[in-house]
Amino acid sequence: MRGEVMQSFNNKVAIVTGGGGDGIGHNLVMALAEQGAKVAFCDIANLESTETKLKAMGATYYSAPVDMSDKSQINDFVDAVLDEFGQIDVLINNAGIALGDRTFEQVTEADFEKITDINYWGVVHTTMRCYPHMLKRPEAAIVNLSSSQGILGAPHLVPYCTTKFAVRGFTDSLRAELYVAGVRNLTVHCVHPGAVATNITLNADYHGKSTQSFHEALQRGTPANKAAEIILKGIRKNTGRIFISDGRMQDIVVRLFPTLYVWFAKLSLKLRKIEL
Ligand SMILES: NC(=O)c1ccc[n+]([C@@H]2O[C@H](COP(=O)([O-])OP(=O)(O)OC[C@H]3O[C@@H](n4cnc5c(N)ncnc54)[C@H](O)[C@@H]3O)[C@@H](O)[C@H]2O)c1
Repeated sequence: MRGEVMQSFNNKVAIVTGGGGDGIGHNLVMALAEQGAKVAFCDIANLESTETKLKAMGATYYSAPVDMSDKSQINDFVDAVLDEFGQIDVLINNAGIALGDRTFEQVTEADFEKITDINYWGVVHTTMRCYPHMLKRPEAAIVNLSSSQGILGAPHLVPYCTTKFAVRGFTDSLRAELYVAGVRNLTVHCVHPGAVATNITLNADYHGKSTQSFHEALQRGTPANKAAEIILKGIRKNTGRIFISDGRMQDIVVRLFPTLYVWFAKLSLKLRKIEL
């Protein structure tokens, strides 16, 4: 679906959640700053790694510690960005966690609530606070990080997949609502990465038999800086669904084999040497 296309990020104000550390968010912040955006980012920890690089390149930025599971912290952050820059043109809801090595039987209600609060409610609350301001902009984009696991339900990832399917539902229906209403200045993008080489597995709460093999499989995926480039290109081309790495392949397999895909999923785990 095509609408107004954001030609350039120069002088745009872009928010990236989870922009500290060294993952996809950090690389999005750096790529946006390199392309002339004023970047506002938040994270629950490790803001310094990104701040140091931004300072060195003389970028205009705003950063703050925010826990994405806390609505009031999110609202304060968005309000502070508006005070600082007066507008929001790009919102990238990137912050997210995996729980790690846990079957559904092992997972607790508290685990489920934690991941839902960050991966799903964090996206909804941030979008709600930014939305009225973004609607007024001549060119604006909301970008939500789902996953290929927002398309393909995978074993040992029940809570994670649940949140990522929810992000996809939220994003796709918001895009449809805007399109039907004739709104073309605000585009909405859902990102479905397959494997991206980050430390998301090691950053998860639970480590076990599959942790190391899963982490190694991700390291063979798309580098995080390349993933950031693909996302920014997807915004500029107004691609509604942005696939990274084997994300598109997983989408095709699920379309062709809506339930039998589990056979391929089992084979893929074997080929990628992931031990469950
Ligand atoms: N790496 C992959 O293969 C992959 C695949 C599909 C989707 N994704 C999604 O991409 C996004 C980025 O993941 P990544 O791989 O860069 O992982 P990462 O662990 O490197 O980065 C996630 C960032 O989110 C931050 N964060 C975690 N909890 C937070 C909280 N409560 N409040 C604020 N910030 C918080 C972390 O501190 C970290 O900087 C996530 O939404 C993830 O689900 C990643």
